[in-house]
Order: sequence, then structure tokens, then C-alpha cells
Amino acid sequence: MSKQFYITTAIDYANGSPHIGHAYEKVLTDVIARHRRLSGDAVYFLTGLDEHGQKVQMTANKEGIAPQEYCDAIAEKFQGLCSTLNISNDDFIRTTQARHKDVVRQILQDLFDKGEIYRADYKGFYSKRQEQFLQEKDKVDGEWPEIFGEVEEFSEPAYFFKLSQYQDWLIDFLKTNEDFVFPRFRQKQVLEFLKEPLNDLCISRPKERLEWGIPLPFDEDFVCYVWFDALTNYISAVGYGQDGFAEKWPANFHVIGKDILVPPHAVYWPIMLHAAGIPIPKQLLVHGWWNISGEKMSKTLGNVVDPIQLADQVGPDAVRYFFIREMNVGQDSDFSADLLLTRYKTDLGNDLGNLVSRQLNMGGRYADGKVPAATIDEEPEQELKKVWDENTATVIEQYEGFQFHRGLDTAWVCIRACNRYLEVRQPWKLAKSEDATDKERVLTSLAYVAESLRLAATLLTPVMPTISAQILELVGADSVTAYEGNLTFNVGTLEGRSLGEKTILFPRIEG
Ligand code: MSP
Repeated sequence: MSKQFYITTAIDYANGSPHIGHAYEKVLTDVIARHRRLSGDAVYFLTGLDEHGQKVQMTANKEGIAPQEYCDAIAEKFQGLCSTLNISNDDFIRTTQARHKDVVRQILQDLFDKGEIYRADYKGFYSKRQEQFLQEKDKVDGEWPEIFGEVEEFSEPAYFFKLSQYQDWLIDFLKTNEDFVFPRFRQKQVLEFLKEPLNDLCISRPKERLEWGIPLPFDEDFVCYVWFDALTNYISAVGYGQDGFAEKWPANFHVIGKDILVPPHAVYWPIMLHAAGIPIPKQLLVHGWWNISGEKMSKTLGNVVDPIQLADQVGPDAVRYFFIREMNVGQDSDFSADLLLTRYKTDLGNDLGNLVSRQLNMGGRYADGKVPAATIDEEPEQELKKVWDENTATVIEQYEGFQFHRGLDTAWVCIRACNRYLEVRQPWKLAKSEDATDKERVLTSLAYVAESLRLAATLLTPVMPTISAQILELVGADSVTAYEGNLTFNVGTLEGRSLGEKTILFPRIEG
């Protein structure tokens, strides 16, 4: 079997409910996955949940339940989010699953056997007041800041992964693979980070402090550091060490947020793989963050936005559209409920929804509910066709370059042109004329709008899969499984097909 196009999201921490940051990442990855499928790739799409660690253990303790029980409930919420937002993931990995734990232990053992992991004393500092471990870098002007109170130095046995010896290899790798991180300015940040010497990575936590983790195979008194555990999901989920692994690995894309590029994904992960003799993923796609009215979203500020609530309000496809339309992949963006409602009303309701309604209305009234033949080819028709001819390939190119917001903007140039075409033609007026050519113009305009909607729905399929499928059905088009053969404006494509019943795709929202 040939290599599949393997794409992943980060796996979310199980220490809280999903928010729009998690939702955005899944939607973005889903849009890429759907776009690649339509482009002909055999896509394999992974998402999942990161379930180990101190915070999860503490939250479960606070709730008085076992960590596993707590994680099961959170997993249900995240899986529910995927199905609400119509995420087309092929798998959902949970780091407490045996298939994952086995691979983490296998990799740890391999690295230990190769001498890449060694035991030494870990020297650190501890603030009793904050119940927090500190490092030299937490000092300000050589002193511990007041908030930490009394700080104790301590030393305890630990296991270290030999990260530092691969620093030159990594720098070289990044210099010869200039596109490893998208966007490029983020790759520069990685190289900037690598100007400072790397320390070896402490990959163990003593069990007496942290129970909720994967025990080290060579010393069961310790559990594995969460990042080492979490990163391994990308290979454990696709059967590392088993037949078929090479059909998926190396991953084509790890989609992640900007906060987890350096050091976990751009430093620890390539080095872990290289040291274990496993190929490096092809690319990291790093998105920006959603802020809320200019501020970081956080539980403390009480401004966390629930994506399920948004989907209940405007529908999942409108949430998807908003995320993709508003975020320039790589940059940060500001979320506001007003902006979401404005986009819903204008782009979706007025531009797209009205076009569909008009078509179905007029189709029923003037054409017996069927897409008529186009017999007129005058300036308005030529202009509309030209807009599609000039822009369809551009949308695809913009999607290819992860410029999805621009792709949608371009698609809307076409959708608005189609509305303008109707305003120029005014078939509702022409229909009252006795002139035979005017009747032909009415029917022709219906054929042009049907073909326009077929193209629009095809282009919008990755972003709004449900609405697009609905539009295709309403204009009598076949469902779309590939771009190929479906992206050329050809006014006769749908001739004779039945149009659907009048439908409101984006109902008015009060409030
Ligand atoms: N568990 C780690 C990832 C391990 S991957 C091997 C983690 N989890 S997280 O829940 O904190 O974040 C998951 C993803 O959501 C990250 O890619 C992160 O950047 C993204 N987001 C979290 N908040 C976000 C926003 N406000 N906006 C956009 N994405 C954000 O990190």
C-alpha cells in the first residue's frame, strides 16, 4: 500500500473542558484533511487526549474520583466536540490506552538500552509557599522573587535523556529543511532558541510525587515526564513497531499552537525520534491563538468561550466558517460573539443563504422545479462565467498555501458576483414580460445560478461540509468526493436536474 497523508492535531490536556482554542485546531486540521481528500490523497487524521500528569491527578483528587474515571468523562466531552463540529478524524488516541503506554515504554527501553537515557541527581529548588518547583531561570536579578517565600534547594535521583548532544544535529536539520516549520518566521524562532545551549531533559518524576503517569520500564519507582509521554502519541496511534506503520509514518503534518512549538515539538520530538532511529515528521504547521477582546482566554479571567454553545447558536458549519474566515493561519486573532453574528448574517445569511433561497424560489415558480437549459449568452452571463474562470483555481491555490481565510474571501468574490448577476438580470421582473427572449433570459439565469452554486458548494466543502452537501443536493448536483472534474464552470452541468424545496440555510438569530 502506498504512503497515506497522515495529519495530526495536538492532544488536548484532560484537565478541563474543551474551549474554542481546542475547537479551532481541530477544525483547521479537519479543513486540511478534507481539502487533501478532495485533492486525491488517502488521508489519515488523528486527534486525541493527553491524560497523564500532575494537574489531572490534582483535579481528579479534588473531585474525589479516580483519575481514570475523571479522564473518561473528559474524553467523552472532547469526542462529543469532534462529532458536533463534524471533525473527520479516523482515530482518537488517549494516552491511558494500553496501545499507547506499550509504545512509550518500548521507546524508553530502547533509548535506555542505547545509552541515550542515564540516571543522575536532579538538582532543583522548591517553593513551599507556592508548592512549586523552580529553576535558576525563575530568579530575578539573581534573587528569588518575594511571592515564592522561602525557597529550598534539593537533590534527588532522576533519569535524563541526552538532548544536548543532538543540538548541532538539530540545527543542521533545520537549516537543511527550511520548510520544516510553517510559517517560516516560527522556524527562525526555533533557531533563535537553539542559540542557547540545550540541557539534557529530565524525563522522570518520582512516583511518590506523581502517580498518574506511565512507569519507566527500567525503574518502576518513577513515571515518565508528560511531554515525553504525550509526543509519543503520534507514533503509538499508528502502530509503531507493527506492520503497516510505514504506510502512515512519517506524518505529513503535526498541527499545533504556537505555545507548544518550542521546545516540545521543534526540539524534544525531532531529537527523540532521531535518537530512536525513527524518521522525522515532514512539517509542523503552527497556528496562532484566539484572544478574547485582546486578552488571553483563561479560567481566571472567566472569559473562556464554549464551542458547543456557539454551535448550538449558529450551527456547526457557521462556527467552522467563522474560525477559518477570521484566522490567518500563523497569526493570532480576536474572538468576539458580535463578529461571529455579523459574519453569520452578512456572509452566510445575506450572500450565500439568500442566493440559495432565491434560486429555489424562482426554480419552483418559473422552471417547474428543474434546472433549465441556458440559451442566452449575453454580457451578464459572460461576466459571471469569467469571475468563476478567473477565481476557482485561485481558491485552491490559496487553500494549498494554508491561506484559507483568503481562499474563502476569493470564493465570496464569486458568490457576490452571482448575487450581482441576479440584480442585473432581475429575473423576477423579466418573468412578467411577454417577450420570448426575456423568458429565455429568466431560464438562463436559473441555469447560471445553479452552476454557480455547484461550484461554490464544491469549493466550500472542506470548510462547511454539511451546508455544502445540502446546497449540492438542493441544486440537483451529485455529492462531491474530488475536486477533479468538478471545478470548471460549465453551465449545462445540471440541466434537467431537480431543484429542492425552499430551504432556509441560515435562519435569523434573535439577540
Ligand atoms: N497536551 C498538550 C499538547 C500535547 S501534543 C503532543 C497541550 N494541550 S492543551 O490542551 O493545552 O492545548 C492543545 C492545543 O490547543 C495546543 O496546540 C494549543 O496551542 C491549542 N490552544 C490552546 N489555547 C488556544 C487558544 N486560545 N487559541 C488557539 N489554540 C489554542 O498543550
